[in-house]
Amino acid sequence: MNILLLGSGGREDALAWRLNQSPSCDRLIAAPGNPGIERWAECHALDPCDPAALVALAKAHAIDLIVVGPEAPLVAGVADAARAAGIATFGPSAAAAMLEGSKGFTKDLCARAGIPTAAYVRVKTAAAALAALDDFSVPVVIKADGLAAGKGVTVAMTRAEAEAAICAAGDGPMVIEAFLEGEEASLFALVDGTRCVVLASAQDHKRVGEGDTGPNTGGMGAYSPAPVLTPALEAQAMREIVEPTARAMAKAGTPFSGILFAGLMLTSDGPSLIEYNVRFGDPECEAIMPRIEGDFADLLHAVATGADFAAPSLSPKHSMTVIVAASGYPGTPRKGGTIAALDTAATDGTIIFHAGTARDGDRLVASGGRVLAVTALGENLRDAATRAYRAVDAIDFADGFHRRDIGWRELERQG
Ligand code: AMP
Ligand code: GLY
Repeated sequence: MNILLLGSGGREDALAWRLNQSPSCDRLIAAPGNPGIERWAECHALDPCDPAALVALAKAHAIDLIVVGPEAPLVAGVADAARAAGIATFGPSAAAAMLEGSKGFTKDLCARAGIPTAAYVRVKTAAAALAALDDFSVPVVIKADGLAAGKGVTVAMTRAEAEAAICAAGDGPMVIEAFLEGEEASLFALVDGTRCVVLASAQDHKRVGEGDTGPNTGGMGAYSPAPVLTPALEAQAMREIVEPTARAMAKAGTPFSGILFAGLMLTSDGPSLIEYNVRFGDPECEAIMPRIEGDFADLLHAVATGADFAAPSLSPKHSMTVIVAASGYPGTPRKGGTIAALDTAATDGTIIFHAGTARDGDRLVASGGRVLAVTALGENLRDAATRAYRAVDAIDFADGFHRRDIGWRELERQG
């Protein structure tokens, strides 16, 4: 089949790499793609949020399947437009993308369906938010409601901090919720209507600094699997969180189809939902793709078309992704720095995905905050880390920086 992949980051480079290896993939094109994706796909400079242009591109290339990488096109209704044009699409409708687009929507759904999540209230004004604080102890969590790409969340340790966050946010929809104690893990499930199967688990590091300190980022590294999410906890999360969510969405007339990324807190009472994303995680996707065996394109096509699908077999190996970011990230990243030696840096079982790169004549340069997603498979997490960091160290990118401690929690546990 012919496949059109939407997006331009490290997540999409990993998806393109994996799709391109699928026996059922005859031709892969990407919009807009990036210099890494060019290795596996023909790239077309097109806005992935423009439904009419994408449908025209898909028709011109006899596309059998569209795979949507980022959330913005989903929220913009690209999947709806593609399906209306008769093109199978992996990714939820705009209505189902509300699971990521609105935290309040998801919290209300959890309350209706009895899904474990932190106690909460929804408010519309700063005054109401300040008043609502009386019902919570600290720490307390303040979330702006809307597509925030992981930003707009304050975990306030004191009442004064909570008040400051509310005043800084001003009026607007907000969710105030109780603080959940535990370790975070991510569960990725393939969902079509009420059918749900586990794809893989992962953990990421959101803070920019070593020891998980400093400002939040999109993610500075990830690894898969997340052994802390044991088979028993994973089954519990599917039963108590993912499956009832799928049923509630179907019952509401807005069935979900695509990948559902559940951000979980593993509390002493079991897994609790922190948030949903309606797309693959970035950099979790880069860590997961090398573990997936079998015909991945065929699997996504089955989910997209309502055909039968089963959980893919996963390599028992462990995978780690280390992000190399441009200095200044997550503030103002320095763009234009030269990147070299990628071909020699990636050796056995290591692959360097491009997250934010561009071509400038003959040079490869940084064009975004997160620049490279260096990924390695290993017999265990330590082995994967050794290989990934060996590649990171061989890359020539003077303007870049990375964290040296990706996977530290799990590496400590594994000894
Ligand atoms: P979110 O955008 O909802 O995923 O929140 C971003 C981050 O804030 C999460 O990854 C958690 O680290 C933290 N967080 C969000 N909600 C809670 C909560 N209720 N309790 C503890 N930490 C939270
Ligand atoms: N790495 C977290 C995310 O993709 O939202």
